[in-house]
Amino acid sequence: MSRKDGTEDGRAPRARGAEARTWPAPHPSGARPPELDARALPRHVAVVMDGNGRWANQRGLPRVEGHRAGERALVDVVAGAVEAGVEWLSLYAFSTENWKRSPAEVRFLMGFSRQTIREDRDLFDSWGVRIVWSGRRPRLWRSVAKELVVAERQTQHNAGLGLNLCVNYGSRLEIADAVKQVALDVAAGRLDPARVTERTVAARFGALDAGPVAGLARPPRPHIPDVDLFVRTSGEQRLSNFLLWQSAYAELCFVPELWPDVDRRVLWRTLEEFAGRGRRFGGATDTPVAGGAPGREAG
Ligand code: IPE
Ligand code: IPE
Ligand code: MG
Repeated sequence: MSRKDGTEDGRAPRARGAEARTWPAPHPSGARPPELDARALPRHVAVVMDGNGRWANQRGLPRVEGHRAGERALVDVVAGAVEAGVEWLSLYAFSTENWKRSPAEVRFLMGFSRQTIREDRDLFDSWGVRIVWSGRRPRLWRSVAKELVVAERQTQHNAGLGLNLCVNYGSRLEIADAVKQVALDVAAGRLDPARVTERTVAARFGALDAGPVAGLARPPRPHIPDVDLFVRTSGEQRLSNFLLWQSAYAELCFVPELWPDVDRRVLWRTLEEFAGRGRRFGGATDTPVAGGAPGREAG
C-alpha cells in the first residue's frame, strides 16, 4: 500500500515513532488506518472513554465489569493511534469528580488502574510509546501514582506516540493549580506579573504535581500540543471537565459506541471525519462561488 506521505508499505509511522521497536499486531479484521495526508491528521486526539457502566448493566452485570471490559478497547485504540501516526493521545481514565461514585466502584477503579498500567506498560513501551500522567496527586492511591511514574520513567526516551493518561484529572483544577504556580513564581520574584500570557499559564500545567512519587523522580513533562480532535464515546455530548483549555479550538466528535465496544476502527473513523472538517481558528477566507445565487451566503 502506498501512502500519500511517501512511506512505502503504510506500516511506517509518519509524524513520530520512527524508532518504535515493534509494530502493533494488525486489527483481526485486516482493517488498515485511513490513508490521510499527514497534514490532515490531528496531532493530538483526546478521548473520553465513556459508557462502561451502561455496557455492563445492559448485560445484567455490575458496572465494574464494564471497566474490566474497557481495557481491551484502550489497548486497541492505542494500537490504532500508533498505526495511524497520531502524535499525542490523551485518555480520560478517572476524573476528579469520579470520587463521587460508590466506594466499591472507586476501589475497583483504583485497583484496576494500578493493575492495567503495570500489565500494559511493557507492551506500550515495545511500540515506542511515551507515557505521561496528567492528574493530581492528592487523594489518588499512592500505588496508582507510583505505577504511573514507573511508566513515565520507563518510556521517557521513546519517540513514538505520546500517551497522556489522565488519572485523577480535572481541567479546572489543572488551570487553578497553574494559576497558583504563577502566583508563587510572582511572590518569589521569579516572574513579572506584567509579562503573564496564555503561555505562562499553560507552561505551568502539572507543575504542582511535578515532585517525586514514592521516592521516584518524575521525568520533565514534555510539551503537549493543543487538542485537535476531541472524541467522546457512548453518545454523551459533553466535555465533563476534560482538557478545557487545550481544546479551545478542538473539533468535537461524539460517537455512539459504548467504550467496551470500541476498537481502533472507531478511532480511524473519527480521523476521517476530522480530515473532512474545515478549521478556521477565527480566521476567514473570501471564496465567492462563481455565478452564486444573489442574496445567498457562500458558507
Ligand atoms: C467511563 O465509563 C469510565 C469512567 C468514568 C471511569 P462510566 O463508568 O462513566 O460508564 P457510564 O457512563 O456510567 O455508562
Ligand atoms: C468522564 O465521564 C470521566 C471519564 C471518562 C473518566 P463521566 O461518566 O464521569 O462523566 P459524566 O458524569 O457523565 O459527565
Ligand atoms: Mg460515564
